[in-house]
Amino acid sequence: MYQWSDDYLIGEATIDTQHKMFMQYINDLEKAGDAITSYSDISAMIIFLQDYSEKHFTYEEQYMENNNYPYLDQHRAIHHDLTKQIDGFYLRLRSHEPLPELAKDVSKAMGEWLTNHIMTVDKAISIYLKTGQLLEI
Ligand SMILES: [Fe+2]
Repeated sequence: MYQWSDDYLIGEATIDTQHKMFMQYINDLEKAGDAITSYSDISAMIIFLQDYSEKHFTYEEQYMENNNYPYLDQHRAIHHDLTKQIDGFYLRLRSHEPLPELAKDVSKAMGEWLTNHIMTVDKAISIYLKTGQLLEI
């Protein structure tokens, strides 16, 4: 379970709300745990993650662009890696992996990715905008 705290705030209301919702969804997945056993449940969950992350990444990338953030391309590439990772879950779904394990792996991978990404890569945007300091990502 991930506990939201103000440490995750990057200082842009929409992005912060989206991060919070994302974390909540991952917690819900973890809670559902073994109850997620049907192909359609897991498929729906992967589709949701794809849609939500795409919407969120588009917004965040636009925000970086509007603020002339110098590492937009690098940040975009990191987002793209996650999109690939989610595509990989689809492939695993189609290759008939045991569904509860796949569901567990999805929530674990997404939770670790999101918390780490916010605290390092996304935080770098707010540090740059507040102080002018450009952190390598
Ligand atoms: Fe990001």
